Amino acid sequence: MSDKKQVSRRQFLNYTLTGVGGFMAAGMLAPMVRFAIDPVLKPSAAGEFAAVVEESEITNEPQRFNWKVDQKDGWYESEVEKNAWVYKDENGEIVALSPICTHLGCTVDWNSQEQFPDEFYCPCHGGRYTKDGVNVPNTPPTAPLPVYEHKVEEGMLYLGQAISRGSGI
Ligand code: FES
Repeated sequence: MSDKKQVSRRQFLNYTLTGVGGFMAAGMLAPMVRFAIDPVLKPSAAGEFAAVVEESEITNEPQRFNWKVDQKDGWYESEVEKNAWVYKDENGEIVALSPICTHLGCTVDWNSQEQFPDEFYCPCHGGRYTKDGVNVPNTPPTAPLPVYEHKVEEGMLYLGQAISRGSGI
């Protein structure tokens, strides 16, 4: 008689059904797990740039430009309008400022108040910023306007993320 252990018909069926059942369960669970963690697997939008305006249109006077970006929040996709105040400084360097007031988030205007010429002005609570976006002392904002990352390629200005400049004056 052989030493080999015989597998009974019942054991063979148990092994086979367990294997098939496990395989089917894995097949059903894998898409669910994938769906649950999908946003984590996608590359982040950080570092993405959007075409905004031709460089030749940028002057020394801040102009407001708008553009749209696709935004994903988990599984929700939407198109979001963004805007920036863009100008060239005295050295010819492009400056792109967020128009969102750092006090409570209203939108700032450029040179809109006769008594505060060449300043950004927030109509909500009288916040003021100098041309480079630095908050004027003793006005509500406590930080400068964020600055957009930017690059110029083939004569086109691309803007990326608005970078906070922390607390100012
Ligand atoms: S939100 Fe701009 S000053 Fe308050």
